[in-house]
Formats: sequence, structure tokens, C-alpha cells
Amino acid sequence: MFRALVLDKLDGKVEASVKSLDEAALPEGEITVAVAYSSLNYKDGLAIADKGKIVRSFPMVPGVDWAGTVESSSNASFKPGDRVILTGWGVGESYWGGMAQKARAQAAWLVKLPAGTDEKWAMGMGTAGLTAMMAVHALEAAGLRRDREILVTGAAGGVGSVAVALLAKLGHKVAASTGRRQLEPYLRSLGAASIVDRAELAAPSKPLMTERWGGAIDSVGGTTLASVLAGCARRAAVAACGLAGSADLPTTVMPFILRGVKLIGIDSVLCPLPEREDAWRKLAALLPDGLPGEGLTVCGLEDLPKLAEAIVAGQIQGRVVVDVRR
Ligand SMILES: NC(=O)c1ccc[n+]([C@@H]2O[C@H](COP(=O)([O-])OP(=O)(O)OC[C@H]3O[C@@H](n4cnc5c(N)ncnc54)[C@H](OP(=O)(O)O)[C@@H]3O)[C@@H](O)[C@H]2O)c1
Repeated sequence: MFRALVLDKLDGKVEASVKSLDEAALPEGEITVAVAYSSLNYKDGLAIADKGKIVRSFPMVPGVDWAGTVESSSNASFKPGDRVILTGWGVGESYWGGMAQKARAQAAWLVKLPAGTDEKWAMGMGTAGLTAMMAVHALEAAGLRRDREILVTGAAGGVGSVAVALLAKLGHKVAASTGRRQLEPYLRSLGAASIVDRAELAAPSKPLMTERWGGAIDSVGGTTLASVLAGCARRAAVAACGLAGSADLPTTVMPFILRGVKLIGIDSVLCPLPEREDAWRKLAALLPDGLPGEGLTVCGLEDLPKLAEAIVAGQIQGRVVVDVRR
């Protein structure tokens, strides 16, 4: 038997409860894993709090990522005792996810834990950290400008916190945009050089504004992303990661055709394996100690329904790792 957070649909509503399940209930898959940690991402918040159509079938174990140890494998690439990470590929949406003590998966979805790290570190990064690393990669490939500030929106959230820490570690001058001004000390502890009030970016902007940003990582979308594009310096690139504010993009073509600004989409869910492995290696090299203490909350399975509401409301600071043994 193992414990899991299970989502059921009752009378059209999603209900979340911690249940004890038989291992025979696990879906088919090549690899069976003893999960050590999962994490709470924005998408998990939407799924558990019944705020978006994330879950494709019920009952569902949520959790878009997990890290643990292989117990059994029918694929020669993995053997019992291997320590592995899974993020994305539809787990926690179409396939049972990580908020459980056991999980089953396909070998093609797994990444080996980078040397010198452990499962708690991996989930301290999780899907959010992987996404931030991919965004930094994309900006570097597009030509990050070192003569200007690099903006991170939704900076105190999961993707934002890791993005601030990575860019600062790489020597960039990071401007952190937040709606929670009281978190300035936290954002500075991650390496932010300046703080931008979320409201400044959220207001509808002119098609072009003063050229301030040498690049940006955006988790917010909507008028915020439009303002970021309008405020980009010539040839700067913006990585669009999320929609915490809105899925709309009310912009014009002006930043693109008059300043050569590039907008790059980031998708960590179905990202090919070699790109993931590279990103995980780089995350381990750049942030071997993860986020600082104030950036990490550890919770158990029972805490998740409450924390799911909090992440959807934009109230989580940094990352939440789920100790599934709790
Ligand atoms: N593309 C991908 O593959 C991928 C992967 C992972 C996540 N995502 C997306 O990235 C986004 C962030 O995910 P996350 O896990 O980092 O979530 P998170 O921890 O909740 O961070 C989101 C942050 O956005 C800000 N925010 C929240 N509501 C807002 C609003 N109404 N207007 C403006 N800012 C708002 C808050 O930061 P402040 O308080 O600092 O302002 C919040 O902490 C989500 O939309 C998620 O779906 C995409």
C-alpha cells in the first residue's frame, strides 16, 4: 500500500483527498519508482483547486513532477536503485503524477539525477526551475544584452525566483518585478539588483516605450508581457513562460519590426530529452544549493489543498517541495 493525493470528480466538482492505495492500482508503465519528493507548481494548483481544465481523467494523482528511486524496470536504460527525475510529459494531467509515494512511468520520460544532487534539491527546482533554465538558455542563444537590465516578472514565484537566481549567478543585472513589495529582501537575496512594481508593467502601455530591458523572462502574460515587449531595447529577446496574469497578449508588431525584439516561447512539458538533460546539468552547476531557505517551503500531502489555493492566488514565495512520506 502507498499514500497518494487523489483527485476525484464528484457531482461535477473536483475533490482532493489523501488515500491509501494498493500498488496494483498504479497505471501501466515500464518503470516503478519510490517517490521521495514532488513539488507544487502553478498547474498543480489549478488542478487541485479545480480552477482550470488540467486533469484529463479521474481518479487522478496530481503532481507534474517527482524525483525518486527506481524499484523495478522493464527497460534496460534503468535499473533498481537508479535515482531519477520526471517533469512534464502530461503526468498529473493525463497520467498519474508525483503527489504519491509510488509512481509508474515510461523510461523515455526520465532524467537521471545530476551528480552531487539529491531528490529534495531536484524538486526544489522542479518544473519551475527547469522552465527557468530553458528560458535562460533561449535568451543566451538569442543574444542577451549585458549592457542593460534583464527583467524577470512574477519574480517571487517559482519560475521567477529560479530565473532571478540563475541570471544573477551568470553575472546579469537583474530587475525583479513583483506585486509583493514586502518581498524585496527575499528577491535581493536571490541576486536582484532592482525591484519593479508589478503595477508599472500591468498598466496598458504604448506600442514602444523607453528601451530599458536587455532581455526578459515572463511568467505573467497579458498587458505585462505587452509592456515588457514595448520596453525592450533593440535586438533584445523575451522568453514567454506563463500566464499567471492572463493568457492574452494585447501587443502590436512595433517592438518586433522597429526594434528587432524577439519573443520566444518556452515549453518544458514536451521538451526533448537531450535538452532536458543539458538543462538539469546546468541547473546543478549554477545552483548546487538550490534557492535560499526563504525560497523553499517543505510540505506533506495533507497540506496540498490549502497550498494549491495559495499558489493560484499568487501567494507562494519561491518553491514548495512535497515530502511524500509526511
Ligand atoms: N511554459 C512552461 O513549460 C511552464 C512551466 C512551468 C510553469 N509555467 C507557467 O509559468 C507561470 C508561473 O508558474 P509558477 O509555478 O512559477 O507559479 P507561481 O509560483 O505562482 O508564480 C507566479 C507568480 O506570478 C505573479 N502573479 C501571480 N498572479 C499574478 C497576476 N494576476 N498578475 C501579475 N502577476 C501575478 C506572482 O509573483 P509576484 O508576487 O512576485 O508578482 C506569482 O508568484 C504559470 O503561468 C505556469 O503555468 C509554464
